[in-house]
Amino acid sequence: MDILENISGNGFVLQADLADIDQVESMVREIKDTAGRVDVLVNNAGICINNSINGMKIEEFDVQRSILRGVWFLTKRILRLFMLRRAAGRIINISSVVGHTGNADQIPYTMEKAALDAMTKSLAKELAGRNILVNSVAPGFIHTDMTSVLPDEVQQDIVEKIPLGRIGRPEEVAEVVAFLAVRGSYINGSVIHVNGGMYGG
Ligand SMILES: NC(=O)c1ccc[n+]([C@@H]2O[C@H](COP(=O)([O-])OP(=O)(O)OC[C@H]3O[C@@H](n4cnc5c(N)ncnc54)[C@H](O)[C@@H]3O)[C@@H](O)[C@H]2O)c1
Repeated sequence: MDILENISGNGFVLQADLADIDQVESMVREIKDTAGRVDVLVNNAGICINNSINGMKIEEFDVQRSILRGVWFLTKRILRLFMLRRAAGRIINISSVVGHTGNADQIPYTMEKAALDAMTKSLAKELAGRNILVNSVAPGFIHTDMTSVLPDEVQQDIVEKIPLGRIGRPEEVAEVVAFLAVRGSYINGSVIHVNGGMYGG
């Protein structure tokens, strides 16, 4: 696993299926036992199921919905580990431009991402008094496993809608996340768009 090869110092890797609340619960317990506290939570996990409203099955809708429920539950549990410290903490939710613009054949995905940004705004208000800042980073079209499966002609159509004329690189999103994780001390409840000019919020 790449992530293991790149970890140094006291880093460690744990896995959980966000759809499985028991797995999330035991992962948080292990984090508490191993690290004791949390400074930054990045809710990055996601899937994107593509289908028209007529083609989409209830089961597929529920799989998409389970991500949002899992993010909410993980955040709720991790918060206890934030609360152990007096200093500021950071929560960064990875949403998407399509939660703002909409996208054909992605109703559950766009609903989930719009809801994630709503969670960001509400939680930011809820936690500001505890000095925990909550923001979203909303990527546009980024070259990852999620998008590389799309046929070339679909990718080309998307590129034509991007003013910068190219697909984004994962590190162009990661650097914004890194900024919010350690800087940006007066940014709270915001959605930062990283999309090459497709949409400005
Ligand atoms: N790639 C893009 O163009 C793009 C655009 C906008 C938003 N995003 C968002 O960025 C985030 C990262 O996506 P990516 O493009 O790197 O895709 P990716 O498919 O490469 O990575 C998604 C990761 O989420 C994990 N995951 C999926 N379901 C999970 C579950 N139930 N429990 C735990 N982990 C689960 C997968 O194992 C995978 O490691 C996602 O939230 C995605 O919606 C991506």
